[in-house]
Amino acid sequence: MVLPALSLGLTSITYPSVYVNSSAIVSLAEMDIARGPLMYNVTNHSACVFWRTTDSTNASIQYGLNTSLLETVSSSTLDTVHRVRIAGLQLGTKYYYKVVSDGVPGEMYHFRTAPADGQAFKMIIMGDNRPISDTPVQPQAFSDITDRVIAEEPNLVVLTGDYVYSVTTIAGDNIAKWSAFKAIIDQAAHYAPVYAAIGNHDTGLWTGTLILQYFLDAFEQHNEASTYFSFDYAGVHMMILDSEATNTPLRITGDQYTWLTNELQASQGRMKFMIAHAPMYPLSHIGSSLDVNITERDALQQLFESTNVTVFAAGHDHLWNRITVNGLVHLITGGAGAPLYHTLWGGDFLHYTKAEVSRNLVDISAIGLDAGVKDNYVLPYVGPIEIFLRVVGNTSTRMAGTVPSIYFSQVPAQKGYSWDGAPNATVLTGLPAAPGPHILDVYAENGDSVWSHARFVFTTSGSITTTTTTTTTTSQVPGIQVELILLAGAAGIVIIIVVLVLLRSRRTG
Ligand SMILES: [Fe+2]
Repeated sequence: MVLPALSLGLTSITYPSVYVNSSAIVSLAEMDIARGPLMYNVTNHSACVFWRTTDSTNASIQYGLNTSLLETVSSSTLDTVHRVRIAGLQLGTKYYYKVVSDGVPGEMYHFRTAPADGQAFKMIIMGDNRPISDTPVQPQAFSDITDRVIAEEPNLVVLTGDYVYSVTTIAGDNIAKWSAFKAIIDQAAHYAPVYAAIGNHDTGLWTGTLILQYFLDAFEQHNEASTYFSFDYAGVHMMILDSEATNTPLRITGDQYTWLTNELQASQGRMKFMIAHAPMYPLSHIGSSLDVNITERDALQQLFESTNVTVFAAGHDHLWNRITVNGLVHLITGGAGAPLYHTLWGGDFLHYTKAEVSRNLVDISAIGLDAGVKDNYVLPYVGPIEIFLRVVGNTSTRMAGTVPSIYFSQVPAQKGYSWDGAPNATVLTGLPAAPGPHILDVYAENGDSVWSHARFVFTTSGSITTTTTTTTTTSQVPGIQVELILLAGAAGIVIIIVVLVLLRSRRTG
């Protein structure tokens, strides 16, 4: 574990008893537990457990490979806050446990130790569960998703931000909101460590004052007062980034950037996952994510590429999306309960992301509320270059003359762009000004001489009418069989695109 040198002034929060276990039916066995137990700092040979009691008690944990719980580790210190470490565990193993306060045992839960470095483990990534309005009441979908996450028995859970609607200077309101959130997420933390990036709704900045103590109190993380930190799990370097609460929201700069750079360079030989709230290639929050400063976003992308980062996962946009840029996989997984965002790119379904990770294989799935796999992506990726369109400008509109943002899943050996059937050019020029449809063909060749082709159809209408058009044609380009995949939608403001159609091609034998 490596922590940056931060002092964020975490202050203790006293929770009125009305909020303690507010959503649970408290049994006699649990009557002394005010919060927890929560798993944290789980390694391949140890695990830490946090819980809080309403009165000072001594503390112990009974644990074992089955429900017999033959082992015990104890702390004789009388306190209301308990952190007990279980050591000497077997790697990659499921253990059962109960916390015991002054001899009173709690409920039985279980957790998994990390496997050996490079071996497979399961990680859940999800975020943006916040309520639809400024209320403590969490979405039912968040509770339902959490139940499914628990059933997955993951090794760890990682959250991408926006847990409450707002943090204000009214302590009672904040306590009510965060208690409602913790009543749900703590159920997952009984079974697996929960790590969390901070979202813009969690900082207080939204209402004018930076207030971090509620976020910091909500998660054990590494028992340190920090909004960005790193840890290693089964040989994978995990980095939780703060895109919101430093002095420069929506930017990774200053001390954090220095820390990030040093960490990445020191972990060159390991697989690396980045977790933040704001995405680098947003679909809805365009211009109000880490793309607020394009030059810095591109420099961050370059840093991640040069240090072999595997995945950058974020939320903020309430949807699911995956784009691969020069080998770096970007996920947006913001579908844990907040109102969904509808964009040209789809993905507007409630979900969590399951990542099964090992040294040789990363298998990523978006799992919907109906338990169905909505999308799946596997690394290492084998196939032709993927071609993506992203649009700079709010509401995904693009003015005539501006240049569409085209990204490739890997650096092409060759590439070409063609507007309206003109000869291929190596440099992309802007959307033609003439009213009517304009076809952009993009070609990319990978190292095996396999060509990819994508076709995007823009219609410049000059009106403010929003139109949706479905196109079912196919086309043929020399040597390439084109298969139509429709990504249809519409967005309209002033002189803009009305229709976007994506054609993605694949070469046939
Ligand atoms: Fe957000």
